[in-house]
Amino acid sequence: MNLNQQIERWLLSQRTQYAGSERPFVTLSYAQSWDGSITLQSGEPLALSGEQAMQLTHHLRSLHDGILVGIGTVLADDPRLNVRQWRGPDPQPVVLDAHFRIPPGARLCHLSDKRCWILTSADAICPDDSALEIIRLPGDSAGRVSLHEALRELKRRGINSLMVEGGANVITGFLQQQLVDAMVLTVAPRLVGGYKAVGDLGVADRTALPHISPVFTDRLGTDLIMWGQVKYDNQDNASSGEHA
Ligand SMILES: NC(=O)c1ccc[n+]([C@@H]2O[C@H](COP(=O)([O-])OP(=O)(O)OC[C@H]3O[C@@H](n4cnc5c(N)ncnc54)[C@H](OP(=O)(O)O)[C@@H]3O)[C@@H](O)[C@H]2O)c1
Repeated sequence: MNLNQQIERWLLSQRTQYAGSERPFVTLSYAQSWDGSITLQSGEPLALSGEQAMQLTHHLRSLHDGILVGIGTVLADDPRLNVRQWRGPDPQPVVLDAHFRIPPGARLCHLSDKRCWILTSADAICPDDSALEIIRLPGDSAGRVSLHEALRELKRRGINSLMVEGGANVITGFLQQQLVDAMVLTVAPRLVGGYKAVGDLGVADRTALPHISPVFTDRLGTDLIMWGQVKYDNQDNASSGEHA
């Protein structure tokens, strides 16, 4: 079994334990340098993954019902969030965009086969024939879209598995709220000294930091791929209140 097949089999086996959950199974996946940077600075694109790791990303996309990024990533990278370097279905694209800042020229506003879902707290309106579908959700105390509400709404709409690709604010937000179930990380052999993937997780007790167990690793081209289940000290994933 090659690495892609191993990760696919592992992810699918993890998901079955979450079948009755109130929210989708969440896989966090992104590429970082050896020093933990995802780009030079926020707002700038930086390609870190090698060719095979990029194919793995597209494979992972095809294994999820939905794919979510923050508006910061849309503004920096102008992604399409579909499957091009693998054979498989496109996931439903979803953007966290509390203040509805997505530019009309963004590629996600011009997908031919899927309407991109915009999760926002703003009074945004789009015509029925727009390539965007606005989903209004309550904001949290920081004025951002409530992630718990967002995940419940996605589940209601049939998204049982969600891949979260970044950027750092979104990665940190999902980890802070203990909403990541699995991680597939690409570690590229570069030192960037830039914008770090994970910010303050708001965990005062250092023994309560999230950890990954079991851990799996392998090489893919020059990149290192690490994957595993994310666990939180006060929460056994399979028995969390979020999962029925
Ligand atoms: N190496 C990689 O794999 C990778 C992957 C993705 C991105 N990136 C890089 O990461 C950078 C973007 O990261 P970023 O941290 O600036 O932006 P981001 O995480 O993509 O987006 C953050 C924005 O999303 C919106 N948002 C709405 N609700 C939120 C919530 N509950 N939690 C968090 N954010 C929420 C906020 O904007 P509003 O308040 O306006 O809604 C927030 O400023 C880019 O330079 C991109 O190239 C790298």
